[in-house]
Amino acid sequence: MSIVFDRAVEYYDQTRAMPPERHRAMIDALVRETGMNKNSRALEIGIGTGRIGISVAEHVRRLFGIDLSVEMMNKLRLKLANTTLQIDISQANARNLPFANATFDVVYAVHVYHLVADWRSALLDARRVLKPGGKLVVSFHQRDENSPNQLLRNQMRAMANAYGIDTRRPGSQSEQELYAEIAKWDAQPRIVTTSAWQENETVAEILSEIDRQIFSETWMIPRATMDLIMPRLYAWAKEKYGDPAPPVPAHYATRWLIATKTI
Ligand SMILES: C[S@@+](CC[C@H](N)C(=O)[O-])C[C@H]1O[C@@H](n2cnc3c(N)ncnc32)[C@H](O)[C@@H]1O
Repeated sequence: MSIVFDRAVEYYDQTRAMPPERHRAMIDALVRETGMNKNSRALEIGIGTGRIGISVAEHVRRLFGIDLSVEMMNKLRLKLANTTLQIDISQANARNLPFANATFDVVYAVHVYHLVADWRSALLDARRVLKPGGKLVVSFHQRDENSPNQLLRNQMRAMANAYGIDTRRPGSQSEQELYAEIAKWDAQPRIVTTSAWQENETVAEILSEIDRQIFSETWMIPRATMDLIMPRLYAWAKEKYGDPAPPVPAHYATRWLIATKTI
């Protein structure tokens, strides 16, 4: 099973954009921690619309990108057409990378392994295409556990479960699970927090995003079921938060995990 991102193309960049300073901090840390430079050959797994890849391409000799979604990569192609940058893009599954062993100095993925079925063997394939001494870098999207965003999503999931729908995405279920797997072959991966910030979210906005099925965990819920869930979710939110309009603070952080292929 895979989650098809084609449906997100129109709104992906808008809904996942980071403020420039947070974006820059993420790229700077990636460059610094991996030592990537103009001699490096790098691969982004699940490159999507190039939200991260476009900035990485400036730092390496050659960047390759793979993704299951042709639509997402078409968006990236359009962006590249307005630049002098080059990224070698191809459609492929993270589980079966179309590259020879020991091809890359750096392989990285941002918000991807929660979507990849059989993600443990996909990680091994990422390791396979790394040169000895090469770096595997991953970032897993993580929410403040007590934020309204997380609590509303938990509630939405429980309600979907009651209708017999399992909203879990097919890949790794948590950052810890992903990191534990990588730690099997690099016992001491580095974890670098690139930004930590507080965001003011309103319950009304989050409910609207869930209702519009913006995020992939809602994509397996048929619209008719969503229409049954939403009034109950609104009622739950009213009971818990009262007025949905005032902003509620939540804490977020962006992290990289950096592992080295030692042999
Ligand atoms: C949340 S988006 C992240 C895109 C990009 N890394 C970013 O941070 O903007 C996840 C991407 O992973 C891709 N993807 C999901 N499962 C995949 C798989 N098994 N193999 C390759 N790409 C996959 C999706 O098509 C989508 O473009």
